[in-house]
Amino acid sequence: MLPYQPAPFPLARPRRLRSSPWVRRLVAETTLTPADLIWPLIVHDGAEDRVPVASMPAVFRLSPKAAATAAVEARDLGIPMVALFPNVDGAIKDAVGTGATDPDGLIPDCIKAIKDAAPEIGVMTDVALDCYTDHGHDGVMEGDRIANDASLDRLAEQAFIHAHAGADVVAPSDMMDGRIQAVREALEANGFQETLILSYAAKFASAFYGPYRDAVGSSAMLKGDKKTYQMDYANSDEALKEVAMDLSEGADAVMVKPGMPYLDIVRRVAETFRVPTFAYQVSGEYSMMQASIANGWLDQDRAILETLHGFKRAGCAGVLTYFAPQAARLLG
Ligand code: PBG
Repeated sequence: MLPYQPAPFPLARPRRLRSSPWVRRLVAETTLTPADLIWPLIVHDGAEDRVPVASMPAVFRLSPKAAATAAVEARDLGIPMVALFPNVDGAIKDAVGTGATDPDGLIPDCIKAIKDAAPEIGVMTDVALDCYTDHGHDGVMEGDRIANDASLDRLAEQAFIHAHAGADVVAPSDMMDGRIQAVREALEANGFQETLILSYAAKFASAFYGPYRDAVGSSAMLKGDKKTYQMDYANSDEALKEVAMDLSEGADAVMVKPGMPYLDIVRRVAETFRVPTFAYQVSGEYSMMQASIANGWLDQDRAILETLHGFKRAGCAGVLTYFAPQAARLLG
């Protein structure tokens, strides 16, 4: 026999705190509830109430009436806010995105339908021109360049149109310099002091927007890419600069986008600024998970809750996710 010394007992045993469901619940450092969720709705001006989006399983393009029904569902599930994204077929797409500032357009129609059906729920809108332009960019173009300053007034007017129709939160997602100030000044000057601005402050040029661009019909239009205005994914300090600027220009809350590959940015922003920080689990993240779920490679319910909990752990106040209703049902 070899002279074997028995291994010592561990004194510190972290597993004690994991030994049963009740103790795991008791010591959980973060929580996820339906109140952490924002449900993005793709809306359209087509005749049908619900049209499936090919690139996003279980997501539908909704008519204003169907969007109102979804908002009622969201409210009943305890989801505080829906976010609207337009697919306009009826509006003419032009270089300056004229349809974006139509007071009788799709987004104003949807806001009003939702406010009639579920006045208790928050309505957030996307401020950007891409769904209304013939070039698919978020600002206006001069020649082959996205013209920053010429875009600001278009974006500010779009935000005003949304606020006037009853939007509670306008969310500029265009990444032009100075847009938060332009939007804030337009809101102040026109009597909308109380409208919130949730800025897409750190929005990265990302492959993960692909399915969304199909859903809203901007991918066929898009000329080139968005790298001259959306951030380079190599950067992190720059995200802090963008957030600092947007806060100083009057943003109430900020967003990091995409979500899962950018949780390091969420953490830095939340810790540095201590303001409500949101993240967007974008279409590509959603469809990537749905594809695995459809193949039986991922367990739907567990994967949804685990990814959404990750956002909370990173420091998010809330998450925009196409899984919002499923998640709220699981949590309810
Ligand atoms: C447009 C906008 C985009 C998304 C939200 N608003 C796409 C883009 O910038 O090209 C992406 C949403 C998603 O992928 O789920 N300004």
